[in-house]
Amino acid sequence: MAVGIFDSGLGGLTVLDEVARSLPELPLVYYADHAHNPYGVRDADDIFDLTVKGTGRLFDAGCDLVILACNTASAAALRRMQESWVPRDKRVLGVFVPMIEALTERQWGDNSPPREVEVKHVALFATPATVRSRAFQRELAFRAIGVDVEAQACGGVVDAIEDGDLELAEALVRSHVEALKRKMPDPQAAVLGCTHYPLMLDIFQQALGADVMVYSQPKLVAASLCDYLQRHSKMYGSGKQSMFLTTGNAARVSDQATRFLRRKIEFVAA
Ligand code: DGL
Repeated sequence: MAVGIFDSGLGGLTVLDEVARSLPELPLVYYADHAHNPYGVRDADDIFDLTVKGTGRLFDAGCDLVILACNTASAAALRRMQESWVPRDKRVLGVFVPMIEALTERQWGDNSPPREVEVKHVALFATPATVRSRAFQRELAFRAIGVDVEAQACGGVVDAIEDGDLELAEALVRSHVEALKRKMPDPQAAVLGCTHYPLMLDIFQQALGADVMVYSQPKLVAASLCDYLQRHSKMYGSGKQSMFLTTGNAARVSDQATRFLRRKIEFVAA
């Protein structure tokens, strides 16, 4: 009964951690594509091919349900995967929808027509590929009308976090927030549209100001997964064991992940 979690690197661990907290008995198989990250600077075909490969590996590990805990893959590849690749008895879900449902005050799976919502000015922080895809705006338009979105491509932040250089990551976050504020001086809400960014949540909140509501994915995704599994209990796969897989250097990635989650994490070669 394992569920797969995919990311280009360590960012998806922010989602894994919350899922593990909510569903402690559920084995989780994590796949990190360190050999090819960051995805945020790649083109859509490339991201599609890499995401298909990683997801296939998670299916092979006994996961029938895979969460793309990577906004870049969710934005650039998920729809194409669902339309052309995912086998009938498997599911691949992204991380955008739970966050947009929270932002637009919807219950999970409420597919009623778009309507006016409380929030009118939203700042989106994401990787260059996610911003370029406009997937966030597309998903939002299915659910809400009259919401103005200003997107900031946060070049360099994922690399700095993966390298463990949190000082650089902090400086970059501050400068990306400044750049956003020049385009939208008073956002009401900010969306952290990259699973690496929750590690910088306090810096985003400080730079944006206390009155900006910051939406971060890990808790929202974990809650929506619990709800999904209650409704689709046969999507628990046959896998029995939690595992951390990487396409990169397993020893190095294990050290970084252990620092990242502040508990011992051992990656093995994917
Ligand atoms: N954590 C991925 C995301 O949510 C990072 C993408 C990257 O590798 O650039 O977008």
